[in-house]
Amino acid sequence: MHYRELGRTGWKVSEVSFGAWAIGGSWGTVDDSESIAALRKAIDLGVNFIDTADVYGDGRSEQLIAQVLKERREKVIVATKAGRRLDPHTADGYNAQNLTRFIERSLKNLDTDCLDLVQLHCPPTEVYYRPEVFGALDDLVKAGKIAYYGVSVEKVEEALKAIEYPNVQTVQIIFNMFRHRPADLFFHEAKTRKVGILARVPLASGLLTGKMTRQTTFEADDHRSFNRHGESFDMGETFSGVDYETGLAAVEELRVLIPADATMAQFALRWILMFDAVSCVIPGAKRPSQAEDNIRAADLPALSPEIMAKVRDIDDRSIRTQVHHRW
Ligand SMILES: NC(=O)c1ccc[n+]([C@@H]2O[C@H](COP(=O)([O-])OP(=O)(O)OC[C@H]3O[C@@H](n4cnc5c(N)ncnc54)[C@H](OP(=O)(O)O)[C@@H]3O)[C@@H](O)[C@H]2O)c1
Repeated sequence: MHYRELGRTGWKVSEVSFGAWAIGGSWGTVDDSESIAALRKAIDLGVNFIDTADVYGDGRSEQLIAQVLKERREKVIVATKAGRRLDPHTADGYNAQNLTRFIERSLKNLDTDCLDLVQLHCPPTEVYYRPEVFGALDDLVKAGKIAYYGVSVEKVEEALKAIEYPNVQTVQIIFNMFRHRPADLFFHEAKTRKVGILARVPLASGLLTGKMTRQTTFEADDHRSFNRHGESFDMGETFSGVDYETGLAAVEELRVLIPADATMAQFALRWILMFDAVSCVIPGAKRPSQAEDNIRAADLPALSPEIMAKVRDIDDRSIRTQVHHRW
């Protein structure tokens, strides 16, 4: 495992870290004992950063993480998120009172006195134009409830606006072989301001593992079934917003580029790690074998400029027209 600086926090985080959405819910059946084993395996292999949210399984993900961390002596940084408990999910809901309430709940779920990193959870764009929201987060830092805060965004434009607030330490954004725009427009700005970048949905919800086919089915409570067209939340979160059949065709083109002895998931993750502005990639994993497969991406040698250009070309030809203008 290699470690990278996380913005100005002073923390060095595992470049392949752990995304804990699936172990909470919204991804079909998950087994808590498998989830716990996946977390343990990840930490055994050097992962020291876990991304979760208060709404993942309504606290189930945070509680499972707390359970595992109780057994461990290593310092593992947990980044959680706040805001999505709001119903309706409005900009007005992002106020000091609600944020404090959400954070108190995460403190309980994670069984700690101070949260390492709290991210606004893809709030409405309007929130980025309300300095008082960031002032409320500053107050929570002063009160010792949170050590640092950041944002999780849908759009590059939101990311650019968010980092105008000087105490935003991290930006979490979708970045993968099907989503290149953050690298073109945002990474340079983030690096200049020493803002950490968490690359999420790195496997395009599993598509970029190369294991899916036209025949693959998903359970009703899996967002790859119920959010295909953005019915419940931003459709960019499901298969990265790429139409499934288009994604499958692009995966076949990518498959021939996989380095010898690597899996497609490792190739997809190594591609992300080629961008030094990225602090860490946070692939989701439901079981130890997935966690291990993903973490081994950190052992792969750098990809050649030719391979990078070919990946770009595949995206330009088949994916870009579907996603580039939207996020
Ligand atoms: N709004 C937000 O802030 C937001 C939104 C989305 C995600 N996130 C964060 O980003 C993390 C990563 O994104 P994601 O979980 O949506 O998508 P992802 O990492 O692109 O895909 C994860 C899924 O792919 C499958 N998978 C993972 N590793 C695999 C492997 N090696 N081989 C085969 N299949 C594998 C698993 O599902 P199956 O086995 O069921 O196929 C897993 O749940 C999340 O866990 C969460 O922490 C945040």
